[in-house]
Amino acid sequence: MAAPGIDHGVLAVRDLRILFPTRDGRDTVKAIDGMDFEVRAGETFGIIGESGSGKTTLGRALVSLLPPTEGQILHDGTDPSALGTSAFRKHRRDYQIIFQDPNAALNPRMTIIDSVVEPMEIMREGNAETRRRRGIEVLERVGLSSEAADRYPHQLSGGQKQRVNIARVLTLRPKVIVCDEVVAALDVSIRGDVLNLFADLQREFGLTYVFITHDISVVSHISDRIAVTYLGKLMELGPAEEVVEHPLHPYTRALLSAEPIPLPSHLRVDRRIILEGEIPSPVAPPSGCRFRTRCPSVQPRCVTEIPEWREVKPGHRVACHFATADGPPPNNQKTLNASSSLGETTCV
Ligand SMILES: Nc1ncnc2c1ncn2[C@@H]1O[C@H](COP(=O)(O)OP(=O)(O)O)[C@@H](O)[C@H]1O
Ligand code: SF4
Ligand SMILES: [Mg+2]
Repeated sequence: MAAPGIDHGVLAVRDLRILFPTRDGRDTVKAIDGMDFEVRAGETFGIIGESGSGKTTLGRALVSLLPPTEGQILHDGTDPSALGTSAFRKHRRDYQIIFQDPNAALNPRMTIIDSVVEPMEIMREGNAETRRRRGIEVLERVGLSSEAADRYPHQLSGGQKQRVNIARVLTLRPKVIVCDEVVAALDVSIRGDVLNLFADLQREFGLTYVFITHDISVVSHISDRIAVTYLGKLMELGPAEEVVEHPLHPYTRALLSAEPIPLPSHLRVDRRIILEGEIPSPVAPPSGCRFRTRCPSVQPRCVTEIPEWREVKPGHRVACHFATADGPPPNNQKTLNASSSLGETTCV
């Protein structure tokens, strides 16, 4: 149990490693290769990074759907893997996840209300009548009328289905919700409404969010703090405004400069730095700094030495040998002038 008087963070990740065998069983995918951070109660903690950087693996591990290979994930100071079966079941309801695909958690043959009450049934909460009442209440709270209750998933839009998924997890009154690319599959025109719903629910229920996305405009909009992942490691972590306005890591700088959103003046088009090349394989990540094969500021030391995870400003950490509180190291290679978007990184 949590030691009294110590603020552990609602989630504390300690030297986390999650490894998978490759398909042929001959090698190891280092999906998470050493991460340390904490999520504070009531905040929105944004996680940003390219596809393949380990975000979904991390999200699943945060809610105990995947066990750490090494290290620990503490929930309010408690290691859930040390709990007995019944205590673990009770504990898990506090830590929920919503995925990108609105259909992932919905059985096409079940009515909406049956899907919404299912988590309460699994937790053996209440009886059929109280569960249905609570289910309808929560559906209404997420903006769906009670008429939606007896429909089937194929009769709803993507945005409505994602609201049903929100309702499903809300019935359990969780503390933490991990949102893994929850608006990525939705039409751009309704993303704002769904994000506003998340913000309203956070205020109303005191929720903590871990918001995973590859879209900087989403994460910068809603996060209190932002963590930047690259190939299974954190590159930077700090207050959202700081990370977006004054990035300290060359990778964050490159990601921001690739975004077609209004940017701070020092990142405008004429000073764009675009990521070169593909993200390397997590089976054999580069030695030293794993961003070095694409870093415009690379130095010989980056090949041999792994950068320390340093706090260079209060609450602002970075993993780069040469980053300072004033910013990332200077670009010692070409400065480019083209656009690209995260997830389909291009090189120039
Ligand atoms: N069950 C698994 N078995 C083997 N490799 C996996 C498994 N899950 C994820 N990976 C690999 O781990 C890496 C990180 O994947 P993922 O966490 O899905 O990243 P992201 O969500 O950032 O795109 C990828 O290289 C992916 O192929
Ligand atoms: S440590 Fe070297 S390669 Fe890594 S981000 Fe810093 S300058 Fe670039
Ligand atoms: Mg993912």
